[in-house]
Parts: sequence; structure tokens; C-alpha cells
Amino acid sequence: MSTLKVAVVVGSTRRESINRKLAEALVRLGGDRVSAQFVRIDDLPMYSIDLEQEHPEAVLRFDQEIAGADAVLVVTPEFNRSLPAVLKNAIDWGSRAKPQSVWRGKVAAITGTSPGAIGTAVAQQHLRQILGVLGSLVMGGEAYISFKPDLIDENGDFTNESTRDFLQAYMDTFLTVAEKLKAPAPAVLAA
Ligand SMILES: Cc1cc2nc3c(=O)[nH]c(=O)nc-3n(C[C@H](O)[C@H](O)[C@H](O)COP(=O)(O)O)c2cc1C
Repeated sequence: MSTLKVAVVVGSTRRESINRKLAEALVRLGGDRVSAQFVRIDDLPMYSIDLEQEHPEAVLRFDQEIAGADAVLVVTPEFNRSLPAVLKNAIDWGSRAKPQSVWRGKVAAITGTSPGAIGTAVAQQHLRQILGVLGSLVMGGEAYISFKPDLIDENGDFTNESTRDFLQAYMDTFLTVAEKLKAPAPAVLAA
């Protein structure tokens, strides 16, 4: 089985982001099934139709990284009971990629963490709706993680066994779905 190229989009630009830590720990759970690429979104300009004529360099790079991935893992904070503007901006840019939106038909998994009790549940619902409308194949199920300082140890591993087992199953399902839906190479290249 070949390694899956997973684009990881973290919806936070904060240096000490707990969502980035969560994303890194999730990638570790994927083991050698995953080749992860963390995709930058902090250098994308705010979307404007005025920039449509010639998409900025950072936008072209973002589009390529998402379009070239077998699947996307989005790990996001919740801001004011929705997704952060920086993430929505990236999604908007990707939806305007040429020749077509990078989100159409893209296998995606959504999760996130916050110190709050419902662990980004509302942001994830909004995000699920947006990516669904854009034609992404968003994995079912829920993973709302309430962040505690000892959730992840200094090696990047989950400390609590039941949390680890739950997230391992989450990642296993995501990767299995993505592997099944991965387009086979054309016959001429597959030899
Ligand atoms: C503008 C703003 C709005 C926030 N709104 C929410 C919220 O609606 N729900 C929540 O659980 N946490 C909320 N928080 C707290 C974030 O969960 C917390 O800052 C978290 O660390 C952000 O994730 P990050 O560390 O990955 O950047 C908010 C934080 C900010 C700065």
C-alpha cells in the first residue's frame, strides 16, 4: 500500500497553537501510512475578486498543495462559535482555483480542540457544512477535543489511553476511506 499524501491545514496561526500540537499528534498516529504536508494559510491575502485576474503566488502554492494531496486533514480552533477567518479565507481561495475548486471530490477529515467543554463542536459543524457545499467528501463521525495541558506529552503522544484509542480509530477510519477513494494511477503509469 502506497503512502497517502495528506495536506494538514491548521486553522490557527498562533506560534504555540494547541491545534497545531493536536495535528502533529494525529499525524504521528497515522504512522507510515501518512506523508503529511502542513499547508501554510497565514500568508494568503484576504480574498478579493480584484485579485482574481492573477492569483498571488501564495495562493497558487496553497492550491497546488491541496490539489496534489490525496486527502486533507483540517484541525481548527473555534472563534466565536465558528471557524477562524484565516481558515475561511483559505477555503474561499481554494474554491476559486483554476481550472476548478481544489475542494471538489477531496476526502477530508475535520477535528479541532479548545479549552472549552465542547471542544470546537460548533466551528466543526460550520466547517463541515462549507466543505460539504464545496463538494468535499467529509468523513462522518465526530472528534471534539477539549484541550487540557497534559493532553499531549513532550514526545507528541496522547497521554490518556482512551483518548488515544479514540483518535487512533478516527485516524484509521480517515486513512482507510482516503486509501479506498484514492484515484488509481492511469494504466500506463501503474506498471
Ligand atoms: C477571538 C477568539 C474567539 C474565541 N472563541 C472561542 C469559542 O467560540 N469557543 C471556544 O471553545 N474557544 C474560543 N476561543 C478560545 C480558543 O479556543 C483558544 O484561544 C485556543 O487556544 C485557540 O486555538 P490555538 O491555540 O490553536 O490558536 C476564542 C479565542 C479567541 C482569540
